[in-house]
Amino acid sequence: MRPACAPLAAVELQSGDLMPPIGFGTCCRPSASGSELVASTLAFLQQGGRLIDTAQMYGNHREIAEAIRASRVDRSELWLTSKVNTRVVKSRGAALRSINTSLGELDLPFINLMLVHSSWGLTSQQLLDVWRALIQARDEGMVRNIGVSNLVRHQIEQLEQESGVRPAVNEIEFHPWVPNSTFQLVEWCTSRGIAVTAYGSLGGSANSLGSSSEVSSLAKRHNVSNAQVLLRWSLQQGVAVIPGASSTEHIIENLHLPRFCLSQAESDGLIRSPMPRSFTRWYNLESEWGPLTRAWQYMTFSSIVLDISIVAALAVCVMLAIRHRKHKQLQRADPLAMQDANFTSEDPAELELTSRPGASSEE
Ligand SMILES: NC(=O)c1ccc[n+]([C@@H]2O[C@H](COP(=O)([O-])OP(=O)(O)OC[C@H]3O[C@@H](n4cnc5c(N)ncnc54)[C@H](OP(=O)(O)O)[C@@H]3O)[C@@H](O)[C@H]2O)c1
Repeated sequence: MRPACAPLAAVELQSGDLMPPIGFGTCCRPSASGSELVASTLAFLQQGGRLIDTAQMYGNHREIAEAIRASRVDRSELWLTSKVNTRVVKSRGAALRSINTSLGELDLPFINLMLVHSSWGLTSQQLLDVWRALIQARDEGMVRNIGVSNLVRHQIEQLEQESGVRPAVNEIEFHPWVPNSTFQLVEWCTSRGIAVTAYGSLGGSANSLGSSSEVSSLAKRHNVSNAQVLLRWSLQQGVAVIPGASSTEHIIENLHLPRFCLSQAESDGLIRSPMPRSFTRWYNLESEWGPLTRAWQYMTFSSIVLDISIVAALAVCVMLAIRHRKHKQLQRADPLAMQDANFTSEDPAELELTSRPGASSEE
């Protein structure tokens, strides 16, 4: 176990590569795309930050490439983590092609760390196929290290047993309010030499860290900010962090943590305190799935079926709305004729009223 107050150290992966302990997250907030992302990523690099966490799913590789080019940081100093989009990539060939595309978008000769984004919607065979693609990509030099995200112990064990390759990293949601099973997962990963990276350390983009009185009182006691308390807490558990931030002020705060440390009692007190109401819980780990999440997981298994159903349902709604509107218009125009009307066509343009001769005058 890392001594609580040790200075920030790089995380040594199984390959011997050193991964920076504090990175920059590029997902899930309004500023995580376009020119705002270019500006914030550039600010992070200019402030001395070196690890950027992105993913194929975030759709922002090109903006990140632009920021890297503008920063003029040497490739050898930079750490780029990305993830295979397992919502759409479910085979070995597709995974290899997607990595190739990512390299082009990022304008980089290699990616430092490529992760399987999640097991959602994948059979265990598909998960293994994607993992085998990552092994091949590493062997061919497209990526330097390979790992997983949102996987639990039995899934990691299975990948290792079937492929003979242990993931270098598991990126998961981690903060003081995750369930006990996540703490056990972190301990198990660490004991196997699998580095853990935390996402959601600050509660996601809807957070309001000030709403936790426990975090605020620790921040006051150590003369640091609320965010710095949470980031330090994670690092003291031996878990790297990748906070997302829009403003340069936040970026500086997150990157340059003052040299303070939380005592064991303070750390335990944080875990026991209520989770700030505004915190986002992702429930991405299989062990945390409740019945609703399982139902959703089942549906995403056949995502094409789901997509088709959604499009069909929307089309029916639109058709019904048009019919209803036309019907109302006709009713307003000639309410008596409507009572006796037969619709001879589905097409509103061809809509025709065939009334009995003299029907309207009789009534
Ligand atoms: N592997 C996965 O499945 C997965 C899932 C989710 C996220 N991630 C990765 O993890 C990264 C971080 O996780 P996250 O997006 O859940 O967000 P987070 O890092 O927990 O929180 C980001 C939010 O914290 C705010 N913030 C940042 N620094 C702050 C500071 N010093 N003081 C106060 N507020 C501060 C930011 O506000 P401002 O924007 O206003 O600065 C932003 O809204 C993502 O960007 C992504 O790269 C991975």
